[in-house]
Amino acid sequence: MKEIVIENIETIRDAAREFVSQIGDRRVFAFYGKMGAGKTTFIKAVCEELGVEDVITSPTFAIVNEYETGRLGEVPIYHFDFYRIKRIEEVYDMGYEEYFYSGSLCFIEWPELIEDILPEDAVRVSITEQDDGRRIVALTAEP
Ligand SMILES: Nc1ncnc2c1ncn2[C@@H]1O[C@H](COP(=O)(O)OP(=O)(O)OP(=O)(O)O)[C@@H](O)[C@H]1O
Ligand SMILES: [Mg+2]
Repeated sequence: MKEIVIENIETIRDAAREFVSQIGDRRVFAFYGKMGAGKTTFIKAVCEELGVEDVITSPTFAIVNEYETGRLGEVPIYHFDFYRIKRIEEVYDMGYEEYFYSGSLCFIEWPELIEDILPEDAVRVSITEQDDGRRIVALTAEP
């Protein structure tokens, strides 16, 4: 397990850079953490670190947002938020496999709601807010 500390919002890019250095050939990252833990904010910082210039918000209305990066060839990054899904069929209907197994980076919020269909090699990322406002980002990768 790898731990990254986000000291504060001003230094979040340093933490994002450290996260990017851990990506390797992994493509699917499942972000766990309570509401307000900082999942969207950290994903945004990571995407910016990867060269995304679009305005990044949480995909509130769509389940998935697609971001173009200048780098990584022309491969987009996919950002999912499953918080609002009511039935797993909604996820089948959106064609989740074409994203998860596309070879593009996938950052997923609220993976708890789709646990059964997460790829086996998804990296678990848990974000917890400390009393002092720091965030601990813990990465667990199996196998
Ligand atoms: N590292 C941080 N340091 C300080 N404040 C932060 C940090 N990360 C997020 N915040 C603040 O906490 C609030 C919630 O953050 P964010 O929307 O990223 O949480 P979330 O985990 O995506 O929540 P949700 O489960 O609702 O999607 C925002 O106001 C944001 O500015
Ligand atoms: Mg969010």
